[in-house]
Amino acid sequence: MADHAADAIENVLHESRVFPPPADFAARANVRSLDEYEQMWQRAKDDPEGFWGELAAKLDWFQPFEKVLSGGFPDVKWFEGGKLNACYNCVDRHLSTWRKNKAAIIWEGEPGDSRVLRYQDLHREVCKFANVLKELGVGKGDRVTIYMPMIPELAIAVLACARIGAVHSVVFGGFSADAVAERNNDAQSKLIITADAGWRRGKEVPLKDAVDESLEKSPTVEKVIVVERTGRDVQMVQDRDYWWHELMEHASAECEPEVMDAEDPLFILYTSGSTGHPKGVLHTTAGYLLGTMMTSYWVFDLKDDDTYWCTADIGWITGHSYIVYGPLANGATTLMYEGAPNWPHEGRFWEIVEKYRVNIFYTAPTAIRAFIKWGEEWPERYDLSSLRLLGTVGEPINPEAWMWYHRVIGKERCPIVDTWWQTETGAIMISPLPGVTPTKPGSCTRPLPGVVPDVVSKEGTSLPANAGGYLVIRQPWPSMLRTLYGDHERFVKTYFSEVPGMYFAGDGARRDEDGYFWIMGRVDDVLNVSGHRLSTMEIESALVSHPAVAEAAVVGFPHEIKGEGICCFVVLKEGEGGDELRQQLKEHVRKQIGAIATPDQIRFAVALPKTRSGKIMRRLLRDIAAGREQVGDTTTLEDYSVLAKLRESSE
Ligand code: WT7
Repeated sequence: MADHAADAIENVLHESRVFPPPADFAARANVRSLDEYEQMWQRAKDDPEGFWGELAAKLDWFQPFEKVLSGGFPDVKWFEGGKLNACYNCVDRHLSTWRKNKAAIIWEGEPGDSRVLRYQDLHREVCKFANVLKELGVGKGDRVTIYMPMIPELAIAVLACARIGAVHSVVFGGFSADAVAERNNDAQSKLIITADAGWRRGKEVPLKDAVDESLEKSPTVEKVIVVERTGRDVQMVQDRDYWWHELMEHASAECEPEVMDAEDPLFILYTSGSTGHPKGVLHTTAGYLLGTMMTSYWVFDLKDDDTYWCTADIGWITGHSYIVYGPLANGATTLMYEGAPNWPHEGRFWEIVEKYRVNIFYTAPTAIRAFIKWGEEWPERYDLSSLRLLGTVGEPINPEAWMWYHRVIGKERCPIVDTWWQTETGAIMISPLPGVTPTKPGSCTRPLPGVVPDVVSKEGTSLPANAGGYLVIRQPWPSMLRTLYGDHERFVKTYFSEVPGMYFAGDGARRDEDGYFWIMGRVDDVLNVSGHRLSTMEIESALVSHPAVAEAAVVGFPHEIKGEGICCFVVLKEGEGGDELRQQLKEHVRKQIGAIATPDQIRFAVALPKTRSGKIMRRLLRDIAAGREQVGDTTTLEDYSVLAKLRESSE
């Protein structure tokens, strides 16, 4: 047992490969030298007001702010007294430049249809729709639920809300009617924007039907606006439901942006905790916008001639920050894709990269693991030479998955930015700068300027290099959440009480001798084997480094002697697996990590239970490993049939 703290997490991952940024990339990067980065970081730490105050000049203000930062954790305010509008900053201000005719949004529908909106087009559509919302009685401060497929109207709706000062609450289009109702009620939404249906793997996702069902339980919602996307037959209720295209026909294209305070709410986004009802993470205007704008510029190295594609859904924070607000505030071209990565074939993403000559590609480890399983022949069929930068977010990426991404997609030529952040942080917090930071597979590397993270014990003491502990943030940052909507007490308790005086992220991490951060997963997932606290991520990475394994999830189960035993759910690249492979895998992990991490059980599975955003739900696997019949809350589970199949898996 490590001797520095009883609750430390042991580090067993041995990864020593280092990839410096390619020289030609570094020569043209937005941030070019390690010195420049280190100076920025130090300045932001020592003088956050000076640092952020200067950067804030990159936003367009209707009235300057009086104070950069007021208060401290948990109640902070940024840019008090300042007045601005987020939509104006993402759209209007580009119209007085050459960008007025630049593509703002390039959209690809699942069936292969496509649309391009130049900044002028986006401005016109957003203004018209803002007027539509006003005519239906939506005003500043009102909450609007948006439940839509990934079509341009989704981005237009988001920006139109921001324009009139309405608070948007985007609910991912894969959620159920009950989930929509719960979020409508928590936010007390006045209006909901949806579509007849969306396309997903060639099938219609009946969004309007779900809205109808949700409205039986959502008394605050008065009006519904419906985009016609698939042409599906839907019920339209008189004086409640309106077609988007009919309302837009007569709407004026002139709409002054509402003058908003820096700290006025911009949006609510619900994120599910492991228990209890979803948390309404609230972000405000100026700090969020500045955070997403600057991190897009630093991390994605956005240039005016780039075509940038983030594959997330706008229903998640990644889509809010890095499809809509961050890229558009920079005047970038952002690509939106409606459908699944494997429809009509497993090469769909690469086909899109080739079609639009995508330069910057940002996706999630769950997608990368799927690409690995589908095989290299898919990306090999397409011309990926336009790519210059790759990104990942959402979960720790296993070093072998990182290497695959680097080799097969990046052709060993593109830097990879592994970006750690959360719905709550609003913007990327820890990440390489692609022209500066040497990368290590599996590490999100170093904090961005303005971010002061630490790895601490439960008492809040900094831990030495390579000791695993709790990841915290020590200083306020502009894009942090301000509260949980309607439950400030839960906000204080969840994020600021676990480790006094600091923001507690809920993740385990270690920092190595070079100051690089290695995220070890959620602290709730940590195993305790014979008194050794082990990170699931590290054992999973050892499994994934075996050539037969596509993905793995590791959980503990009650063990008479060890306290917790190690149970591994393993998905193979092909075939069924048997006793011989089981023994091989146990031996492989033992060799890679050591005897302490030798798996007690290897269970072969066809798929793992995942959330809608692709995170592995280890909580459910723990129930299965422990033989519990009744598993916990499954409302965020993507595919229910996975559970039944897993129960059948055994040693
Ligand atoms: C949690 C936040 C932030 C956008 C998408 C997820 C995990 C996120 C990484 C990364 C290791 C990561 C953490 C975090 N996570 N990015 N690069 N490496 N873990 O947002 O749904 O709010 O989830 O995702 O556990 O706490 P979210």
